[in-house]
Amino acid sequence: MSLLRKKTVTQILSDAAEGESSKLVKTLGVRDLTSFGIAAIIGAGIFSTIGLASYNGGPAVSLLFVFTAIACVFTALSYAQFASTVPVSGSAYTYAYVAFGEIFAWIIGWALILEYAVSNMVVAISWSEYFTSMLSGFGITFPKYFATDYGSASRAFELVQQAKQAGTALTTIPENTRVLADAYANAPVVGNMHLIANLPAGAITVLITALVYIGIKESRTASNILVVLKLAVIGLVIGVGAFYVKPANWSPFAPNGVSGVLSGVASVFFAFIGFDSISTTAEECKNPQRDLPRAMLYCLGICTVLYVLITLVLTGMVNYKELGVSDPLAYVFQKVNLDFVAGVISVSAVVAITSALLVYQLGQPRIWMTMSRDGLLWKRFSRIHPKYKTPSFATIVTGFLVAVPSLFMDLKFFVDLTSVGTFFAFILVCAGILFLDAKGLTAQSKFKVPYINGKYIIGAVLLAVLAYALTKDAPLQTLESKPLLVVFWGVWAVLAIQGFRYNFSLLPVIGVLTNLYLMTELGASNWQIFGIWLVIGLAIYFSYGFRESKLAKQENSLRG
Ligand code: ALA
Repeated sequence: MSLLRKKTVTQILSDAAEGESSKLVKTLGVRDLTSFGIAAIIGAGIFSTIGLASYNGGPAVSLLFVFTAIACVFTALSYAQFASTVPVSGSAYTYAYVAFGEIFAWIIGWALILEYAVSNMVVAISWSEYFTSMLSGFGITFPKYFATDYGSASRAFELVQQAKQAGTALTTIPENTRVLADAYANAPVVGNMHLIANLPAGAITVLITALVYIGIKESRTASNILVVLKLAVIGLVIGVGAFYVKPANWSPFAPNGVSGVLSGVASVFFAFIGFDSISTTAEECKNPQRDLPRAMLYCLGICTVLYVLITLVLTGMVNYKELGVSDPLAYVFQKVNLDFVAGVISVSAVVAITSALLVYQLGQPRIWMTMSRDGLLWKRFSRIHPKYKTPSFATIVTGFLVAVPSLFMDLKFFVDLTSVGTFFAFILVCAGILFLDAKGLTAQSKFKVPYINGKYIIGAVLLAVLAYALTKDAPLQTLESKPLLVVFWGVWAVLAIQGFRYNFSLLPVIGVLTNLYLMTELGASNWQIFGIWLVIGLAIYFSYGFRESKLAKQENSLRG
């Protein structure tokens, strides 16, 4: 069926060699790639959203980091095998084209926009928050109405007005809300419109886009420098913070139970997103088949260790209830009167988040470039700049796509949307390895996910878990409160049956299940929004790519 038309590995490699993008410069080695990975992973998540996750879950959020890392490691192994089999720029998109066929490839490519462009809106907005607070540390006040979004400011203003009318003391309203309300009240007004926009978020996106446009080599140098700085500061937080840990703060370890811990899934997962993005630079690597798998595992391992340590240090330095702030790393050092360290951290957060922005602005155009080469997007998306040798048009579109919403939008919605889309992509990548194995398509894989035969284990563990749940009399209650778990158990049952038939490799199966479980924690409304996103994507596919795809044209010419 033509919706499931597939590319072969040989075809993909020859397309990449013939296309305009073969002009890309091959300069990246394993160290650069690991550095890119760390630059992508450590960003707004660990500097900002970890605060709220710890506030809700307490010290046990460190275990959520471990659990999420497990899902990511299994996914990284699957990515690594694909990257060593099909070393071209499209990442999960290309892998789905080989494993499942064109329509899945399109769906993944469309979901990756959430991981790259939409997550970068979050990153740009957090950058702006740290940037303005850093400026205030130097005594410079940046007007708040030009460093926030209209919706947040007007909502805060309404809240404050309601409190005033009800005669409630304003001190009961969080300080951040009062600041936003003031921003609304003080903003310049044209007609009836309050002029409010997040100018630093837009400006940094434009600057980073310009850097990425100019060239991969310059981006690499910038990324390497930024990462060294970032690691040094994270080392400082852990090294100094460890001396201020009071083990009493770790008890109770999970004050709000498992549900409190799991409410942080989107934030914790957001902090890990990015290790996969290095696969988009495959065509600019010296030896992608050897270096990409290594780099992916190195950067994931390094970040997991750092994250768990940082969470333990944070929750050990102060009571978890104090961590509901947007700058938790700096905050805990202020609490122990180390203002200098707090200052260093604020400045470094700006640096750290800048380097995360860079990697995603680099990754998104390269995915589009590959999709365009396949005829699923307009040709100009694969156009390479004659002088700078970068995908110029796609880079500019990415710049606009990220800069404009980050000027005007609020960040919370985008964190959830990014996570749901990325889980989806990760699940398909893990499942893709099972498919490659089952179809015997692994001959060209220079790296393979270590094989453990899951023939009996997948089903046996499912039965054991279900039996345990039944003795506890819990499954029906759980399903009532979390209907999405039906999907999880259903997929596990299918994997058990197919695993028995095809001797599925166990590790990618664990990857599918851990990612899917975490995805169910994001709640039905996020799944619905993601569903709408997919429908829009499919409408675009059927109105363009379905007819224009290279494979469609080949099919037609064979028929004709
Ligand atoms: N992991 C990236 C960050 O935390 C998305 O900013």
